[in-house]
Amino acid sequence: MKKEILKILPEIRKIKNKELREKVVLTWEEGIKLGGWKTEDLKKIPFTLLIPDCKVNLIEHTRAVTNTALRVAETLSRAYKSLVKIDKDILIAGGILHDVGKVLEYTKTGGKITKSPKGKFLRHPFSGSALAYKCGVPEEVVHLIAVHSHEGDQGYHSIEAIIIHHADFINFEVLGGKT
Ligand SMILES: [Fe+2]
Repeated sequence: MKKEILKILPEIRKIKNKELREKVVLTWEEGIKLGGWKTEDLKKIPFTLLIPDCKVNLIEHTRAVTNTALRVAETLSRAYKSLVKIDKDILIAGGILHDVGKVLEYTKTGGKITKSPKGKFLRHPFSGSALAYKCGVPEEVVHLIAVHSHEGDQGYHSIEAIIIHHADFINFEVLGGKT
């Protein structure tokens, strides 16, 4: 399964720290197994149930958010130099994992993707954080998963978390998502 995950999410290879890279892959593996999916199913899961008849899948969204975040980070680093310190490994890992909890929040019933019973209690920032923590992902990255959506609005946001949060909302709102 590891190879398939690296194939559909090639940005994982941009994470320089090998240990972090492996934990990111492991988190997706665990999520896919726990959610009862196959890796190829990920391209059939809409990235959100909040946009009716959404044509963008979870993998396309995950890659777009990660790449948006990377471009933002490059722009900020060029403009502000050492005034803004961004850890790219943390940023990429957070982009790749921010919505991993959706494999637990969603389920397939009668050919349709719907909210799972567990998803009603734990939205993806919670299930994704738990999953990543279980797989040994460092707190700096779990933080990005935990606070990327509105659940995290009141708390502390690292620089990487600010970037992922906005990259996610850009990629949601341009497709018609309402906050
Ligand atoms: Fe997202």
